[in-house]
Amino acid sequence: MNEALRPAPLDSTQAAAARQLSIVVPTFNERENVVTLYERLKATLGETPWEVVFVDDNSPDETWQVVRELSQRDPRVRCLRRIGRRGLSGACIEGILASGAPFVAVMDADLQHDETRLPQMLALLQDGEAELVVGSRYIDGGSADSFNSQRRGVSEFATLIAKRLLRVEIADPMSGFFMIRRDRFEELAPNLSVHGFKILLDIVATARGSLRTVEIPFTFGTRLAGESKLDSMVALDFLGLILAKMTGDAVSLRFLLFALVGSIGLFVHLLTLDVAFNLFAVPFTEAHALGAVVAMTSNFILNNALTYRDQRLKGLALLRGLLLFYLVCSVGLLANVGVAFSIYGQQPIWWLAGAAGALMGVVWNYAMSSLFVWRRR
Ligand code: GDD
Ligand code: MN
Repeated sequence: MNEALRPAPLDSTQAAAARQLSIVVPTFNERENVVTLYERLKATLGETPWEVVFVDDNSPDETWQVVRELSQRDPRVRCLRRIGRRGLSGACIEGILASGAPFVAVMDADLQHDETRLPQMLALLQDGEAELVVGSRYIDGGSADSFNSQRRGVSEFATLIAKRLLRVEIADPMSGFFMIRRDRFEELAPNLSVHGFKILLDIVATARGSLRTVEIPFTFGTRLAGESKLDSMVALDFLGLILAKMTGDAVSLRFLLFALVGSIGLFVHLLTLDVAFNLFAVPFTEAHALGAVVAMTSNFILNNALTYRDQRLKGLALLRGLLLFYLVCSVGLLANVGVAFSIYGQQPIWWLAGAAGALMGVVWNYAMSSLFVWRRR
């Protein structure tokens, strides 16, 4: 470790004082940023008893190594290294639950969030003026100047949707910078989604207006080093969160995506059938079977890319997964037809029997796929 970055020796009186603030920092490939963030936290928080928990999803750049070195020198620093898992919200939730202070902040590792706001945020919670303090870019005094116009547009649009559909009242529910009372968080935790990026939106939507919230402005800075992990897939996560919250968590994002992919599969099936049967004069049975195989394959690829993008299969595991997926779907088809027949036998309503069969099929495929194909390692 760079000599200049070596932290000061431990002050035992400080470590012994009851921690007031836990700061949770999710990291993925942030090795260039974590030491600077740590130094800035130390400078800003001064005498306040604090701790920081870095939650690293086994970064290829070995961010966790750098955090470990820090934690060896300063017990206020901890590293939670997660293996075989990805996801910003899940990382934040785990980090919060693994920390101890009565107040918890979540902030990014790349110094885009203004750590000098932390003392003010903490004071608002300690004084009982708020249960949640949000670092906001979209109120007077705040800004997101580092955004390019495209990203600004997307962010504003998403904020608008969230406010309308989930009746979220705060100005910046997409912020990743906030501080919350631990007891209130722990109440909500079982109902939060570990998927996606929008943990604050999830918290606010799940609390349904029951969290006394104060927003304070901050300037969303530019990233110190490395690059953003937000990609266009984030939009999908966002949609899923909105839908899940609107249906009172009746449907999970994964299931929705799985069902969505399934309906795309139906099109693929029919298209293949059409092309093979009408264009290439393949006999119907063979053309239909071909359609099924092509649809299962494209479903598998789509599910691997979207539905299970946090546990994507690669290489040999991909091939093994595909074969298992064929198997799961074949049994699913039997279940589908079986249910449809039995319902039709009792009540000859074609659409009811058909829909029940299809639903049975997708539920079966979903349950079995997450058990066997994309099972958690
Ligand atoms: N553990 C873990 N796992 N950390 C992650 C993951 C993950 O899968 N993905 C991203 N992170 C960490 C990054 O290392 C960084 O510290 C922080 O989460 C934010 O990620 P960025 O990639 O820097 O996101 P951003 O700057 O584009 O987006 C920020 O602004 C958005 C508002 O526009 C984040 O704060 C978002 O939460 C926020 O919604
Ligand atoms: Mn960032």
